[in-house]
Amino acid sequence: MSTAIESPAGGPESEAVSIAAERRWTIVVVAIVALLVLMMIVTGLHWASMPPSRVETVDVKTVHVRGEFVESNLGTAVASDGKVTVRLIAQQYSFVPQCIVVPADLPVTFRGTATDAIHGFIVGRTNANTMLIPGFVSTFTTSFHATGELLMPCHEYCGTGHEAMWGRVQVLPADEFLAKARAGERLSCVPR
Ligand code: CUA
Repeated sequence: MSTAIESPAGGPESEAVSIAAERRWTIVVVAIVALLVLMMIVTGLHWASMPPSRVETVDVKTVHVRGEFVESNLGTAVASDGKVTVRLIAQQYSFVPQCIVVPADLPVTFRGTATDAIHGFIVGRTNANTMLIPGFVSTFTTSFHATGELLMPCHEYCGTGHEAMWGRVQVLPADEFLAKARAGERLSCVPR
């Protein structure tokens, strides 16, 4: 579309100039839109390929006293087939356990829920990131590629203590982690 500016000094040349300028901007704008759409597709499919795929509920009234999220079952479990599962609970204003141990370079499945308000967490700069909602089980599987300690802040505003709600994640070399893990035990790095 061209809207040639007819100035008194204008003529066929100035119209050609403005048409060329508009064409350039059209190309730039189409390229920006195409880049943004491409970024959405790449980040959606490649980075965040762990949307909630199903709904799993848990009774928030009994979550502390029976079932998967009783205190003795929280922490990191290694199943007999080698699968690593972290179970955690969020409540105002802490995570249980406060310090989570995971192996590097092995798939780790997180399963968590909340008991009072909507909470959430992100682990360092990794893609381990979820909301925790009372009555629902949030789960995802990821792996950590660098050893060390990562901070795990609550990232959903959950009340006046929200900004003080932090956990930690210790990523150990896989062999060191597996040497600590014993069948039936729940690991954590909470000092006892
Ligand atoms: Cu829990 Cu914010």
